[in-house]
Amino acid sequence: MPTLTVNGRARTVAAEPDTPLLYVLRDELGLNGAKFGCGLGQCGACTVEVEGRAVLSCLTPIGVLEGRPVTTVEGLGSPEAPGPLQAAFIAENAAQCGYCIAGMVMRAHALLRANPHPSEDEIRAALRLNLCRCGTHMRILAAVRRAAGEPGPAAG
Ligand code: FES
Ligand code: FES
Repeated sequence: MPTLTVNGRARTVAAEPDTPLLYVLRDELGLNGAKFGCGLGQCGACTVEVEGRAVLSCLTPIGVLEGRPVTTVEGLGSPEAPGPLQAAFIAENAAQCGYCIAGMVMRAHALLRANPHPSEDEIRAALRLNLCRCGTHMRILAAVRRAAGEPGPAAG
């Protein structure tokens, strides 16, 4: 049975190696932050980090993840103690329905890990593959700017 490292914990799972990580996170491990939006790599709702890089968990079979640490939005903090990036999303009131938010947070987290002070254009480029049906992209952008130490409204 495959063993994954998720949010710092080794987890042995029963799923077959070709099972998408998203299904294992949600159905076996009880980590429901990553969302099923399209299942086709087109919306970003399922974004998590693998070895610190943003990946689409709906397209990532668990068989390629042995020895490669996975981080989900649950690994960044909790409702009681949100991490800095999560706190920035809360401060900017970035969520409407919230369905896209875990994916947005994880994509932004990977960006900030690689580039702690991205320009607005760099943030926009990083988030271009993550869709928000509610249209809160500007508040999400402001949240990432806040987390990068640049609070204030994003340019229109
Ligand atoms: Fe993975 Fe849409 S659910 S990209
Ligand atoms: Fe609803 Fe983004 S807040 S999809």
